[in-house]
Amino acid sequence: MTIPAVANPCETSTPNRLNPPPVRLPKLVQAVGFAFFQREAMRKWINRHGHIFEINVPFFGRSVVVSDPALVRSVCTASTEQLINVQPNVGNWFGPGSIFALDGSRHRDRRRLLAPAFHGQSLEDYETITVDETLRESANWPENEEFRILEPMNRITLKVMLRILFGADGAELEELCEIVPSYMKLGQLMAFVPAPPRWIGRHGPWGRLDKVRKALDHIVFALIDRAEDDPRLGERADILALLLRTRRDGTEMSRLDICDELLTLIGAGHETTGTALGWAFERLRRHPDVLAELVREVDEGGSDLRRATIFEVLRVRTVIDSVGRRVRAPTFDLGGWRIPHDRTVFVRITDLHENPEIFPHPERFDPYRFRGTRPTAPTWLAFGGGARRCIGSDFAIAEMDVVLRTVLQNFRIQTDAAADEKVYFRGVAHIPKLGGRVVVNRRT
Ligand code: HEM
Repeated sequence: MTIPAVANPCETSTPNRLNPPPVRLPKLVQAVGFAFFQREAMRKWINRHGHIFEINVPFFGRSVVVSDPALVRSVCTASTEQLINVQPNVGNWFGPGSIFALDGSRHRDRRRLLAPAFHGQSLEDYETITVDETLRESANWPENEEFRILEPMNRITLKVMLRILFGADGAELEELCEIVPSYMKLGQLMAFVPAPPRWIGRHGPWGRLDKVRKALDHIVFALIDRAEDDPRLGERADILALLLRTRRDGTEMSRLDICDELLTLIGAGHETTGTALGWAFERLRRHPDVLAELVREVDEGGSDLRRATIFEVLRVRTVIDSVGRRVRAPTFDLGGWRIPHDRTVFVRITDLHENPEIFPHPERFDPYRFRGTRPTAPTWLAFGGGARRCIGSDFAIAEMDVVLRTVLQNFRIQTDAAADEKVYFRGVAHIPKLGGRVVVNRRT
């Protein structure tokens, strides 16, 4: 496979060409490729046009697609005056109070508020919760019987997230655990489709999504009410308390905004990590050497290879395929191209991760390529990059580390030569099609 080189756009000092090469297919064909066969279509278009080209697709319109590391770096390091979040984005799903719906200084302030809860000392505080939920969920796993590990992983990451957000375990959290999976399933499907105006009335999936959202709001508002009445609110370490305390320092968030943001963190923070864990077990089942080495490391109290395995899983089975931005400035210079105002720019994470010039034999699951290193943007981009880089990346890695360690300490994963599970696109996340099927035995 030879990919046409980008005509060294980064060496061109003066941008002189308006539009990158367009995909010359009827709009309908592009739309179908983009919506239903995105990975295959993108590989084909990259082969034909190189690492920058333009597509024209529903909802996003004319969009520039980049997968060249130097161009990706330019997108990641662009200021928020130049590029804003892509439209439409998952803010449609979570609501206008969600960080995904914010841009400019409001976005920056929200990141500043949330970031400390997902970094540093906080991560150590969450370790006990993660071990606790992993042991609780795995207590009834069957032995010598194949089962899907994806749903248990999603339940662990959901419960951990709920406890971090609300600070307690209780009836409401059990109710949220029941409802959130439908919210995730419907929301992912509808996230990028503009909703019909409310005065038309919402039917079909829109109506169902509204109904689920109302049920979630009801529970979250009850939890907010209770927290507002809590005399110990000032001492609490959970994220709801953190958001409510903004009322005391004048950066007040409304109740609606708080609800949108809590649902954002639940939505963005649990299924992504649960899916990555599902892929980790899917890969380990088929790689006995890596698995044996990981078990040995766990027993000896180490963690280097486990960390490297997490980075490699996130590369070789990329959960989020691409990130998008929209040009806010009158023009945005990208290498040798001058991208006009309002145009969408997509960064193809999967295609960076599959580039053999960056990762030799990219199809191989080889955690050793990351041993002793920490991969970074713009080549390894599992968490995106720049001003909107995933706020939960450190937490996700720490959580995956603790879940993997706890499972490997307590279970033996059976290995075999089963065919690789195919990738299935759920609307936002790419999951193992058969749910990451595994057979385990309890270690004595
Ligand atoms: C393996 C797990 C995860 C993956 C693969 C992942 C991936 C991503 C990606 C690709 C982005 C978009 C970045 C961009 O636009 O440049 C993002 C944004 C975001 N993620 Fe994650 N994420 C994961 C876990 C989490 C967790 C655990 C949380 C919650 C704490 C979280 C919260 C967020 C938020 C709030 C944003 C929006 C940031 C912003 O717009 O400023 N994610 N994530």
